Amino acid sequence: MNIKKIFAANWKMHPVSLAEAKRLLSVSGDIARRGKNIETLIAPPVLFLESLRAEAKSRKYRLSLGMQDGFSVPAGAYTGAVSFAMGKSLGAAFAIVGHSERRTLFNETDSLVREKISAALALGLRVIVCVGEPVAIRKKGEKAAYRFVERQLLDAMKAIPRKHMRRVMFAYEPIWAIGSGKAMKPEKAGEMISFLKAVLTSRFGESAQMLYGGSVDGKTVRKFITEQGIDGVLVGGASANIGKLKALGKAFSA
Ligand code: PGA
Repeated sequence: MNIKKIFAANWKMHPVSLAEAKRLLSVSGDIARRGKNIETLIAPPVLFLESLRAEAKSRKYRLSLGMQDGFSVPAGAYTGAVSFAMGKSLGAAFAIVGHSERRTLFNETDSLVREKISAALALGLRVIVCVGEPVAIRKKGEKAAYRFVERQLLDAMKAIPRKHMRRVMFAYEPIWAIGSGKAMKPEKAGEMISFLKAVLTSRFGESAQMLYGGSVDGKTVRKFITEQGIDGVLVGGASANIGKLKALGKAFSA
């Protein structure tokens, strides 16, 4: 593999302790070190960001740390919220925005997603924008799924100034594949991603990097990263489990 592939990890709300988080970071650091052609992006729970950044620095891990979400306003009376500006000050280099768990469990609307994209980009962060259809749409057929995801993509694009396009990547994550243990077929994911790239190129004259996410593990990762059009993977569950993470790393750098 000559072209750099992206290994993005979304630990979600795992693990429970900082000690465990440091162990996950250490395995992630090994993956980053071993794989010459991997770019490693890790999004731990934001509370661990500062400690993990110090750890990554002292151990010289070749990886970037980021946020799984953030609030667009830098500071203010928003109880419980953490802003992208705060994450940046602790060393976040990127942010995931619009993850389906945020959209469904926390009722994030397209317009909030757009605000967050703009805010994170304005701060100089790289942004991973998640798009993907729910099972109800997928059941209506492939065409409906393509239309749904294309609409999400174009909606997100309204918040992205062309000059910031280089700092944006998209993650296509069919919601029915997330956490289900049933990844999409890599060739199908590749087709969707190639379609989305073509939409961007025809509308805006340039495309963006695109990842696949949804039940990627050590058994499937290789197929995804070698599939035409797919620039890397966004891994949830398997990235926050030591055994599964090791298996992923082995397959990634094979
Ligand atoms: P999963 O999650 O790998 O656990 O399916 C992916 C994601 O939500 O980004």
